[in-house]
Amino acid sequence: MIVHRLELVDFRNYQEASFDFHPGITAVVGLNGQGKTNLAEALAYLASLDSFRGAPGDALIRAGADQAVVRATVVQPDGREVLVELELSRQGRNRVQVNKQRLGRTRDLLGVMRVTVFSPDDLQLVKGGPGERRRFMDDTLVALALKYDAMRLELDRVVKQRNTLLKQAGGKLDDAGEVTLEVWDAKLADIGDRFGHARAVLIARLSPVVAEAYEQLADRPTPIELRYEPPWRGSGGLAAALAAARTDDLRRGVSTVGPHRDDVELFVNGMPARTHASQGEQRTLALALRLGAHRMVAEKAGSAPVLVLDDVLSELDPTRCTALLRHLPPGQVVLTTAGVLPDAAHPDSIVRIAAGRVEP
Ligand SMILES: Nc1ncnc2c1ncn2[C@@H]1O[C@H](COP(=O)(O)OP(=O)(O)OP(=O)(O)O)[C@@H](O)[C@H]1O
Ligand SMILES: [Mg+2]
Repeated sequence: MIVHRLELVDFRNYQEASFDFHPGITAVVGLNGQGKTNLAEALAYLASLDSFRGAPGDALIRAGADQAVVRATVVQPDGREVLVELELSRQGRNRVQVNKQRLGRTRDLLGVMRVTVFSPDDLQLVKGGPGERRRFMDDTLVALALKYDAMRLELDRVVKQRNTLLKQAGGKLDDAGEVTLEVWDAKLADIGDRFGHARAVLIARLSPVVAEAYEQLADRPTPIELRYEPPWRGSGGLAAALAAARTDDLRRGVSTVGPHRDDVELFVNGMPARTHASQGEQRTLALALRLGAHRMVAEKAGSAPVLVLDDVLSELDPTRCTALLRHLPPGQVVLTTAGVLPDAAHPDSIVRIAAGRVEP
């Protein structure tokens, strides 16, 4: 998948700007605060309809403007060129057009463009709470197959409904409440077991791929392992776990077990990365997680997502920088930097930005 051109209108600090990307490596160079991450965010937004910074839609619209437009020409793996136009409004009513045809649901855009983005915030994949890692797993599943987007939304919905019921019950259920809870439990068990299975298969496959990516970056063999072993996935599956947790759930007014509470454990040299790995190891692992997922999605889709590396070079030591640049996966790469490009970078084109403008 290749992005030829990106046009931004009133997106973040861009009033009106257009970028031409090389099918190979494009370096985006600019000082701090000029709009490099904003550009990365716009590219990623087209793929996920979400800000990888976790920003609300409103923050993406330029201060003082009513709406933002993100427009991109994307070449699909089969060679078709597609024009994607996304209009973001302050009220959150986004509109999407593909080849000038309005899509009924914004989410139908998912899959038209695939982007892998790595940013310094990704350190949180290793250092942060389980939510970051759940999002990583689930975003990867969605990139592998769109059916997981619907499954994830359904799972969220069922957990929310179940929680509402538990909260309303205030510690004890009447007969009607019991029946309703049974219904939600059955639904949650069904979708939760399927989703848990998907996550387990993903992590089992991803673990060696991430280990390989890590080894390339670190330039030496390092035992890396990803483990997804939620206790509820034992015998009896989620149904049994929900039954066992029912008293507790009622008392606390919230669903205490299930995929919405899962984590993936990360190990470097047999030790938990969050508490034992060095800063540099944690950064390398975060990058290896992204590169590993990127490789998996590229293999499954038969063509690589656009790889956006935001400010990655400032985060790694010179040896790891060189290793990264030498082992960049095939496909289109957009690489931003506030500093000088290392010799090993060899970009096919350079875009310079300053204060939300592309320099001629
Ligand atoms: N909605 C918005 N409207 C106007 N300006 C905004 C908006 N959101 C962010 N900005 C501005 O965009 C500027 C550029 O931000 P960005 O994060 O892209 O910088 P950067 O080039 O990645 O810098 P760094 O090298 O420090 O990471 C910031 O100065 C920020 O104040
Ligand atoms: Mg930045």
